Amino acid sequence: MQVRESLPMYPVYELDDPMKSILIPADRLQERVRELGQEISEVYRGQVPLLVSILKGGVVFLVDLMRAMSIPHHIDFLQVSSYEGGTKSTGTVRILSDLGTNIEGRDVVLVEDIVDTGLTLSYLLKQLEIRQPRSLRVCALLSKLDVPRIEVPIDFLGFEIPNEFVVGYGLDYDEKYRNLPYIGVLDL
Ligand code: IMP
Repeated sequence: MQVRESLPMYPVYELDDPMKSILIPADRLQERVRELGQEISEVYRGQVPLLVSILKGGVVFLVDLMRAMSIPHHIDFLQVSSYEGGTKSTGTVRILSDLGTNIEGRDVVLVEDIVDTGLTLSYLLKQLEIRQPRSLRVCALLSKLDVPRIEVPIDFLGFEIPNEFVVGYGLDYDEKYRNLPYIGVLDL
């Protein structure tokens, strides 16, 4: 299947699965990420926050978000696993690769691609709190509505979306489709 994106800089994407719909087009994503970058810059002006991206899904969001920020900041990465290739969470979170930065006394922003059951975020928030950052906030691009969920605070949120399995902009299905510049729903 081939899907054409509205912005001219993107190729015609070749997909192994049919795309049911494009939920958030690339231009809308870019616009919202720019707004989030400004919002975060205002909150942390005068400080040097550490943006922690959760691999692999959060990486596309991070690189756009950091370029939308006007203040100096640092970045680091955490890799976790809960989906193990499918479309349903396995219910357990594992840290596959830890931060390289000591976060004690730092202003940390956890940058997450999507909050589904809240399991990943609640686990990571607990793990990071123990390390005594000065502040710890969450920036999530997407949050699914109507999902039974562990309550987690989201300080900066891009979009609320329906409870469907989405791909693109870092999010994968079986490790594919992270490259798509939009958020789409596959016809699985
Ligand atoms: P949670 O722990 O259930 O909140 O899920 C969080 C993680 O699951 C996210 O960081 C994603 O990596 C993955 N995830 C949740 N929903 C989706 C989806 O619709 N598409 C792709 N990955 C998802």
